[in-house]
Amino acid sequence: MEPVVHKASASERRLDVSGTAGSVWGIIVAAGTGERLGLDRPKAFAPLGGRPLLAESIDRLDRCPWVDALVIVSAAGWEEPAILLAEEIVATKVVSCVTGGTTRAESVRAGLQEVVDDALVILVHDAARPLVSNAVVERVLGPLGEGYDGVVPVVPVQDTLKRVAGAAVVETVSRTDLVAAQTPQAFLAPALRRGLAGDLTDATDCASLVERTGGRIAAVDGDPWLMKVTTKADLALLEAILAGEG
Ligand code: CTP
Ligand code: MG
Repeated sequence: MEPVVHKASASERRLDVSGTAGSVWGIIVAAGTGERLGLDRPKAFAPLGGRPLLAESIDRLDRCPWVDALVIVSAAGWEEPAILLAEEIVATKVVSCVTGGTTRAESVRAGLQEVVDDALVILVHDAARPLVSNAVVERVLGPLGEGYDGVVPVVPVQDTLKRVAGAAVVETVSRTDLVAAQTPQAFLAPALRRGLAGDLTDATDCASLVERTGGRIAAVDGDPWLMKVTTKADLALLEAILAGEG
């Protein structure tokens, strides 16, 4: 299917990273089917606080002063609803909406095609994490000016971790130096392009691909509110949090 491309004016705001003025592009990946959520539509269009889940990330990143332009990656057949949603929100930074791939990494790769060649920094964000804040965006941008190629927001692992073989516990894994990675993840554009150029097998996030191609990745504080919607229970929890915020 031909990607649906919607052009709007990107913000003129520029962020100064490592002394060079350049633009910060965001890719919102929203092309997953949401199998574990089990609705009749992609997870990005699950209702949350009276609007589709995807609306939250578009709205928050569009209003984020650190972000200049946004690309949305949608499931096949859902490009038009995503564009209409961006228009409804009166998002001013959404430059295009493209069709995703069969894996998250392929969807990121599709979004990357829409990012201009001279973009300096690219943020990749899961639509499934609706509560993205300006503070976390600011935190992930910081280390890019200090010699890092990529930055992931992380939170401590709370549960005790076990390695199992079938029903049997084989080992209790020390969680001392283990953290859970969230999004948005920030990258110097050339490093992300390099990471996404090769084999995408087994990539669960973009940072792992950039690591594989020799990139230096920093970890910064994530945000406990930035949890991912995976199941119906997650959606119900976020619904309650949003109602409390409003
Ligand atoms: N994603 C994507 N393209 C894919 C798979 C995932 O853009 N082929 C996006 C999802 O839309 C989501 C993020 O990557 O915003 C994280 O993926 P996940 O939570 O696994 O979402 P789904 O793959 O949709 O859910 P499930 O694994 O339950 O099917
Ligand atoms: Mg998935």
